[in-house]
Amino acid sequence: MTFKVKDHYFNKAKKDNFLARSVYKLEEIDKKFSIISKGDSIVDLGYHPGSWVQYCMLKVGEKGSVVGIDIKEVNETLGGKPNVSLFQKDIDTVESIADLGLSDKIDVLLSDMAPNTSGIKSLDQDRSLNLVEKVFELLPLFLKEDGNLVIKVFDGNGAQKFLKEKKSLFKEFHFLRPKSTRSVSKEFFVIGKNFRHDRV
Ligand SMILES: C[S@@+](CC[C@H](N)C(=O)[O-])C[C@H]1O[C@@H](n2cnc3c(N)ncnc32)[C@H](O)[C@@H]1O
Repeated sequence: MTFKVKDHYFNKAKKDNFLARSVYKLEEIDKKFSIISKGDSIVDLGYHPGSWVQYCMLKVGEKGSVVGIDIKEVNETLGGKPNVSLFQKDIDTVESIADLGLSDKIDVLLSDMAPNTSGIKSLDQDRSLNLVEKVFELLPLFLKEDGNLVIKVFDGNGAQKFLKEKKSLFKEFHFLRPKSTRSVSKEFFVIGKNFRHDRV
């Protein structure tokens, strides 16, 4: 069953010319919660290989912009577009929007980051939570008032408790496990709509 699900979305991504099957997770989230609009400025953390960047480029159009960072080498197949900038960077080295070549806060912050797994469950959960905490640390520096957030979270070791404490930062706060998520995966997505700077 797991194999069939993987096969279906993997093949669909290939057919639709997307770089990864993860695109269908973002598509489902966006269709359900209307996260991305034409003309938006977006930062995509952990973008590689880049299916979310491809999706965002189509959605925001020529007047929008997409900045992606990843610890992996820049995926040149996505290059050459005037409204896309990609950086090879570790999120832990990012402290301001200027570090990503930006001068204004953005409309949408996305994070599909996943740590390298060690196989030791508690260590992997801690690494994952560290990434989530870092994204929330950057939120007030990156997001405009009323901006939106989509972030991947791995369940376990305090993730739910941490997220409950962050709920009031947004007007709407949703949890979703997209249909294309592999059944063995512990991941889910948090969707924050309408960021409120006065709640930080
Ligand atoms: C599941 S993949 C993202 C797939 C992507 N959304 C797409 O649609 O093609 C997760 C990515 O997070 C990146 N990542 C993990 N830790 C990171 C960190 N500390 N800083 C930046 N990127 C990181 C990994 O290198 C990996 O490429």
